[in-house]
Amino acid sequence: MKILMVCLGNICRSPLADGLLRQKVIENNLKVEVDSAGTSAFHVGDAPDHRMTETAKKRGTDISFLRARQFKSNDFQEFDLIYVMDQSNLKNVLALAQNEIDKKKVKLILNEISNSDAEVPDPYFGGQSGFEHVYDLLDEATEVIIEKIKNNQL
Ligand code: 4NP
Repeated sequence: MKILMVCLGNICRSPLADGLLRQKVIENNLKVEVDSAGTSAFHVGDAPDHRMTETAKKRGTDISFLRARQFKSNDFQEFDLIYVMDQSNLKNVLALAQNEIDKKKVKLILNEISNSDAEVPDPYFGGQSGFEHVYDLLDEATEVIIEKIKNNQL
């Protein structure tokens, strides 16, 4: 199985979701490949934002090795599941879908921990607490994803 995490810049939320899920996949000995991408090209080739990297490191997750890339329509062929962080990402990703099969692969990641259309807030223009909040949300969501993979529910 291959899972892609998507946000706007691919330097804050999706690299964290990527790093958390990769770590849990390894800890649980699962056969899952994880990657991440941004809908924009703003930060292509960049390492994650240092505020996200530091928050993740402090809490036990290394994301420093990841580099930003832009989401591309071929990712629909490449991946089984595409998790987006917010409604804007959802709209931008769905705009590149070519058929219903593509569209069905795309989900708001917080739908895994709530029944609402909750979004992972963009922490880029805010303070440290925003990065902590993103970590809490994505730690919980990736935990649920791992449990679903183990139970063949994804
Ligand atoms: P991300 O955060 O989508 O979680 O990676 C952002 C990073 C950069 C920008 C916006 C959001 N930006 O406008 O450059």
